[in-house]
Amino acid sequence: MISRNTIDKIFEAARIEEVVQDFVQLKKAGSNLKGLSPFADEKTPSFFVSPAKGIFKDFSSGKGGNAVTFLMELEHMTYPEALRYIADKYSIEIEETEMDPKQKEEQSLRESLVLVNKFAFEEFENNLWETQEGKSIGLSYFRERGFSDKTIRKFGLGYALDQNDALLKAAKDAGHKEEHLLNLGLTKEGNYGKYDFFRGRVIFPIRNVSGRCIAFAGRTLKSDNKVKYINSPESELYDKSKTLYGLYEGKQNIIKEDKCFLVEGYTDVISLNQAGVEYAVASSGTSLTTEQARLIKRYTKNVSVLYDGDKAGINAALRGIDLLLQEGLQVKVLLFPEGHDPDSFARESSQTELENYLNTQAKDFTDFMIEVLLDGHEDDPVKRAEATRRIVESLSLIDDNITRSIYVQRCSKNLEIPEKALLSELNKFLRKRTLKKAGVDPQIVQDEPQHIEDQEGTLPLEDVAIWEREIARILINYGSEEIEIELQSEEGEEEKVKVQVAEYILHDLTQDEIGFQTEVYRSIVDIYQSHFSENGNFPSSEYLVRNPKLSESIAAMISSPYELSENWAERHKIYTDTEEKDLLRTVFDPLMRLKLNKVKTSMREVDDAIKSTENEEELHLHLQEKMKLDQMKVALSEFFGSAII
Ligand code: CTP
Ligand code: MN
Repeated sequence: MISRNTIDKIFEAARIEEVVQDFVQLKKAGSNLKGLSPFADEKTPSFFVSPAKGIFKDFSSGKGGNAVTFLMELEHMTYPEALRYIADKYSIEIEETEMDPKQKEEQSLRESLVLVNKFAFEEFENNLWETQEGKSIGLSYFRERGFSDKTIRKFGLGYALDQNDALLKAAKDAGHKEEHLLNLGLTKEGNYGKYDFFRGRVIFPIRNVSGRCIAFAGRTLKSDNKVKYINSPESELYDKSKTLYGLYEGKQNIIKEDKCFLVEGYTDVISLNQAGVEYAVASSGTSLTTEQARLIKRYTKNVSVLYDGDKAGINAALRGIDLLLQEGLQVKVLLFPEGHDPDSFARESSQTELENYLNTQAKDFTDFMIEVLLDGHEDDPVKRAEATRRIVESLSLIDDNITRSIYVQRCSKNLEIPEKALLSELNKFLRKRTLKKAGVDPQIVQDEPQHIEDQEGTLPLEDVAIWEREIARILINYGSEEIEIELQSEEGEEEKVKVQVAEYILHDLTQDEIGFQTEVYRSIVDIYQSHFSENGNFPSSEYLVRNPKLSESIAAMISSPYELSENWAERHKIYTDTEEKDLLRTVFDPLMRLKLNKVKTSMREVDDAIKSTENEEELHLHLQEKMKLDQMKVALSEFFGSAII
């Protein structure tokens, strides 16, 4: 057990921001630091660290605490594990208090497993460097492969002796339990007793982000062995889908370079690393998973997929692209010449050649897709249509409107297909996804003739969501502030009245019967409405953020009222720096846009009705309605200046 004295020292030494930065990229935000939550999938940073208070607070998941609980939450460490991690980081010597037999018994399974893996790791390493067999077979193999001693040490490579149960014996002699070795897959049980899983193989230890060895891969050195690599099974410590080989060794460089190379295998990571490309990771033993994509995103948003140029490599790259896009990453693809993988290429080229290749051959993912999907059949219309659909489907996975539209433009040019056609196809995918998100089966409504982009003049669905978000954001940030508006009194005179922003917005939305389409923003407005009618005042953001369904959106809105990017502001004509000063404009703008949208939709409905009605009285009513809408449209055009309509 760790002594009280040591625990105190650990807490004194731990700087929350330093511990967190081992895992999360943080930027300064006033006296705090902020970054993307490592606990949730988000695009707007809502994860805060306060160095002064020694705490972290994650608005999207609601988690918060100190340096130790951060490690427990994120890395699923036990309390002693977290303490040991920090002690190790700050070179604090751990003073152990004597454990009585009962305490020993109580030592958690996890902790024992960690110790067993650590033991095995050290054994394998020791075999490689210190035993005759290890040196002559394992070490010489690695050296022949071109790995330097420094690289071999850095990745903790090792060797498993070619004996039946060398590891099991050594582990038992050191006091480890057989059941734990079985649990970790280091020992197997066969018809003739127990034996080591890894025998006569070089060993690639697999570490988690904090550097703990959680599994092993073993490569045979016999050319007749059919199974080239064997891997530890999943265990209490090892979850394949959440592990990236090389992340521990590369994460500091991934952050520094702000990019990451995704490769296929252990040897690719190691060879690139040795050649100075120290930001490659591999999804060991599986095809890329969502969790792995998220893991990368903790450190950088820029990923290049580096795969073999063969069919399997291309397919793996195509699969990977979608997964990465979906997690909001920027994706490039870099294929190696037929017969080469990053490992062989790195080994056979000079550092300059390699750098040159990596710098010049990376393709934008759309260019890559166009190339491999058309594959020389540029003139075949069926192939082109198929390829287009496939690419547009990938584009629809991009959440960010601006990024997506840039890609649409680019594809339109490269595929020589009008942007409008791509957009209309894109909207089908977007619509399906929106419906799915809202819990509606897209099959049911698929045939509705409502192609959002095709309806001239109305905002595409995602734009409506943008303005709805704006209104929600204004409610939360400025709801209780006052604005002065002009009203016409009953006598027709203009009079100035002061009202609260929230009051005005709610009144306006109700009066014009504007309902929100996006669930989360609708809920926010509803809460304001009911809170006001029940209590006569508006809810605070602290109150709202406690609502688990809304907390993520709200945390994003309150932590970053001015985070809207410059591009975004320009595109939508919102001038965020002045919004507080010109609150009136800030409030009116999104309201007017939604109104305008509603007016246009209604006008189309009325036009349709006029066309189809045969009843004179009805026609008269429709015409009256149309006139009213026309007037509203004119008034709204005045507000925006005519350009917008
Ligand atoms: N790999 C694997 N399981 C296999 C084969 C390969 O996990 N059965 C992974 C390993 O991570 C390996 C990578 O794929 O690093 C590349 O495979 P390969 O080139 O076959 O392995 P090498 O060890 O590089 O073998 P060689 O020296 O023959 O190139
Ligand atoms: Mn290879």
